[in-house]
Amino acid sequence: MSQPLDLAATATDSTFTAIKDAWQARLERWYAHPGLYRWSLGNPFTRWLTRRRTRKLFDLMAGFVHSQVLLSCVRLDLFRVLHQAPASLNELAHRLGLAPAVLQRLLLSAVALGLLEHRSQGRFGLGPLGVPLAQHEGIAQMIEHNHLLYQDMQDPLQFLRNAWEGGMADYWPYAHAQSESQAAAQAEVAAQADKFTRYSQLMAASQGFVVQEILSSYFFGEHRCVLDVGAGKGRFVSELAVHAPHLKFKMFDLPPVLALARDNVQANGLSDRVTLHPGSFLHDPLPQGADLITLVRVAHDHPDAVVQQILQKAYAALPVGGVLLLAEPMAQPEDEAGQPSASADAYFHFYLLAMGAGRLRSPQELQTMMQQAGFTHVETLPNAMPIHARILLGRKSKCLPSDVQNSVN
Ligand SMILES: C[S@@+](CC[C@H](N)C(=O)[O-])C[C@H]1O[C@@H](n2cnc3c(N)ncnc32)[C@H](O)[C@@H]1O
Repeated sequence: MSQPLDLAATATDSTFTAIKDAWQARLERWYAHPGLYRWSLGNPFTRWLTRRRTRKLFDLMAGFVHSQVLLSCVRLDLFRVLHQAPASLNELAHRLGLAPAVLQRLLLSAVALGLLEHRSQGRFGLGPLGVPLAQHEGIAQMIEHNHLLYQDMQDPLQFLRNAWEGGMADYWPYAHAQSESQAAAQAEVAAQADKFTRYSQLMAASQGFVVQEILSSYFFGEHRCVLDVGAGKGRFVSELAVHAPHLKFKMFDLPPVLALARDNVQANGLSDRVTLHPGSFLHDPLPQGADLITLVRVAHDHPDAVVQQILQKAYAALPVGGVLLLAEPMAQPEDEAGQPSASADAYFHFYLLAMGAGRLRSPQELQTMMQQAGFTHVETLPNAMPIHARILLGRKSKCLPSDVQNSVN
């Protein structure tokens, strides 16, 4: 491994955890009892539970087939084709150049997974999970992109030993620049310009759901100027500019990324409301003048020390009373683990491991880091779809931080 990984904070023990331990050990012994499976299937009150657990386990085993069915449908452009009109097996086989007997396996699998549905006269149409795939290009792009992770993880133990040497690590150039000097980082950026273009395009395509979560959860009325750190090509800024026409913006990102953003800003007619600030938060301060700083899908790409540095720079750049808004996917809190979306944690743990330097953090961990950087009134902003992102807010308080207070007194 090229650099040490940060460890997530683990839960501390209490009397309650000891009782929970004993209860879990007892449950485990029950589950392991050879007669329990048969008995629970014979009992109408417990049958559903055992069936559900068995189905979940089967899905875990079969998950790699499910994701390849999804990828095949995306590569064949099936979702868009069937959104235009349902089609029969033979029509699709002719159009896609595949043998009907083979294509039928794919279509029936996609029906089983809720991606497609049977329609009248033997035709296939979109299922409930296929509809968003036909509408949102960003999802299809992420599915295609995930193929890199799939390849990296083909031999999972080999992956755990050399997680940062695969295609995903190569895809994200900045994830490995943490310890480089400014000059070395600039040379690296110049040499890999095409990589910055490629990931910025993917980020812009996939940011829509996250932007929606932020715009529908936070009231921007109190702010005048927003600094978006790690702004990418500026999709968030462009949509927020329409949502809150009174706002001015500053965008901060690496120089090759902001060069791409410049075209977008001009194309969206925002040149008089947006200023661009190329730089690296590893080496440069953040520009001052904004009363709201946003960090959207940035912290999880970086190790704790870098996140702490970004938060401190954000605190320094804000005026008193200014706000930091941090939005990204976060680990499910303990009490919500076991909910269906908790399985997203496994995806992000492995994605970020393959990428190189960051990790999935819980809202509590990020809140503590924000407080350590000086922010007060740190809170979680409730939002409708936490699987896309959770949102944290912190304020640069009008009161002095306690260490400053102490030195003044
Ligand atoms: C995962 S992308 C998120 C982009 C955008 N906020 C979004 O949600 O789509 C992370 C962004 O942080 C930027 N970034 C990474 N390292 C950086 C650094 N050292 N200084 C400034 N920006 C950086 C990347 O160029 C990229 O645009």
